[in-house]
Amino acid sequence: MLRRLYHQQPESFAFSPANQAWAEGQISKYPEGRQASAIIPLLWRAQEQEGWLSRPAIEHVADMLAMDYIRALEVATFYFMFQLQPVGSVAHFQICGTTTCMICGAEDLIAVCKDKIAPKAFDLSADGKFSWEEVECLGACANAPMAQIGKDYYEDLTAARFAEIIDELAAGKVPVPGPQNGRYAAEPKSGLTSLKDFDSGRAQYNASVQAAVDIGDTVKRIDGTEVPLLTPWRDKGAMHKPAPSAVKQNAEPVAIVTKVSPATPADATGATKAEAQATPTAKPAVEPAAKPVKAGAEPTPGKKPKVLSAPRKSGADDLKMIKGVGPKLEQLLHSMGFYHFDQIAKWTEEEISWVDQNLEGFKGRVSRDNWVEQARLLADGKETEFSARAKKGGVY
Ligand code: FES
Repeated sequence: MLRRLYHQQPESFAFSPANQAWAEGQISKYPEGRQASAIIPLLWRAQEQEGWLSRPAIEHVADMLAMDYIRALEVATFYFMFQLQPVGSVAHFQICGTTTCMICGAEDLIAVCKDKIAPKAFDLSADGKFSWEEVECLGACANAPMAQIGKDYYEDLTAARFAEIIDELAAGKVPVPGPQNGRYAAEPKSGLTSLKDFDSGRAQYNASVQAAVDIGDTVKRIDGTEVPLLTPWRDKGAMHKPAPSAVKQNAEPVAIVTKVSPATPADATGATKAEAQATPTAKPAVEPAAKPVKAGAEPTPGKKPKVLSAPRKSGADDLKMIKGVGPKLEQLLHSMGFYHFDQIAKWTEEEISWVDQNLEGFKGRVSRDNWVEQARLLADGKETEFSARAKKGGVY
């Protein structure tokens, strides 16, 4: 299937504050330099927020993870769990059309879609509530034919039951997912042939269905009432300690205090926004090289800019307002002694070259995203297209 970005795109994308906090929690799960591993949950959250994945959303997530846009686009276009165009406001039906499901009646389900929703895949129903597509095997072949609706699988379908499910969703109900023919899970249709006493002690639904019923969010959009993402490791401050290389030898000690409120949910989701900040107790001072060059190593091209041992009294600027700087890169910049827009705005070509080479895991980002030009505008109190977009969405 050809998967392309939709021809009409919104101007911008920003996570809601609650989703931003959730996304930052996800990113914190991964070790330094491996933040790109968070791309699938972040893209999924963006889709759950908006209903589909726009190009600005994909690029926003790439920025947060300091990834090249093409890498994020590769992920978004590869997995058909990501919808690259607007889909039904209530539900998008993904009908498995692969061998087992096809033999067991997938074509009948698709006929129902054509009849009740729209003749062509991805076209919206007249009321805009539904859309459908045929997808490849979803891995539930033992319960064929089946369809994925939102997060859940509806299995052992017949055309009649599937038509009822669409009607129930149209009426505002959420049908119980899982097998629709009375089966508990993927046991033989004729009943258990072994472990027969299993029946007596089992829960009402199989584990997947039980979780779906408990959470109750099969087709619900993210609205701030979800199970919170807990990130206790962030409260230990591990994510916010400066790199040892950032501390000048023989320098006056600079206390770095991690400010977090572990017991205080930052938002309605209860997600903890452990936005740690470095708090200086010593006066800011201009310091020489933060990172010693290893003996025998090639000298870094360019010239190291002047750095600070801590932000000025007014506090560090929000470097994430620079397009291409996500939470991890901001943290890295702090560890290198860069806290303010005007520091970056003054970098010369030689200094840009030095910083580009020393951004471990993010080499070349200064030039790629033209940080200096952005920082000049921000240091002058002006907005860039990106910073205006980020603020408009209440991202930071
Ligand atoms: S063939 Fe349909 S789930 Fe595998």
